[in-house]
Amino acid sequence: MNVAAEQRIAELFGVFAPTYDQHMARSNHFEPQRNLILQSKKWLGKNILDFAAGTGANARLLRDAGDFEITCVDSQSAMLAIARATLGPGCKYILSDVHSIDLPDQSFDTAICSFGFFWFRNPNEVLTEISRLLRPKGGLIILEERFYSGSLPQPAFAKNGGYLSELASLEAFMHIEKLRSICIESGFNLMEEASHPIDSDHELVLSVFTKRVQA
Ligand SMILES: C[S@@+](CC[C@H](N)C(=O)[O-])C[C@H]1O[C@@H](n2cnc3c(N)ncnc32)[C@H](O)[C@@H]1O
Repeated sequence: MNVAAEQRIAELFGVFAPTYDQHMARSNHFEPQRNLILQSKKWLGKNILDFAAGTGANARLLRDAGDFEITCVDSQSAMLAIARATLGPGCKYILSDVHSIDLPDQSFDTAICSFGFFWFRNPNEVLTEISRLLRPKGGLIILEERFYSGSLPQPAFAKNGGYLSELASLEAFMHIEKLRSICIESGFNLMEEASHPIDSDHELVLSVFTKRVQA
């Protein structure tokens, strides 16, 4: 993905921020996201990084699920401002590109990302950065969309409208199998997967990885 596309993504989420949560609720994403994130609870450590946190959907779920210290990172100030306004001072908020986050090595027990990887300029680089920020054996939890066989993601994104039609034109979509393999190549072991249907075209898939300890 080139710099112009990245700039367009930032502008897109700036425009879309005020209606993002409504769009996610209307397009039947909130309930599956809730079920899957809460299902992953046994994998969560105390210090959690929510990267590409957006309006704070995961942080809202986690705040009510246990005694976690949550840091939300996003590069779009309008998205992060909504997270801050709804979650308040109980979480930390960092305005940053996730390709390089200004925090010390091994700051977190767990990193979570939902609906982020389609938008990243260089997913491998993001995974290297997340690995740096995780403690040994730290958890990486990724929530993404998987299209059923025969359903092509780009027409489906275009059909859904809103910001997803922009994703269809960006051609940044990555099949979940590809994402899984780059996580494994980047030093993570796949521990568990779970899915939840969204509509006739696709489902949500939660993948739980742990950071491989180098021999
Ligand atoms: C589809 S939203 C997902 C938000 C949230 N995780 C959720 O579950 O609703 C994608 C988010 O990724 C953020 N994003 C995209 N590229 C990014 C980057 N390189 N660094 C940080 N955030 C990024 C966008 O600003 C946006 O808030």
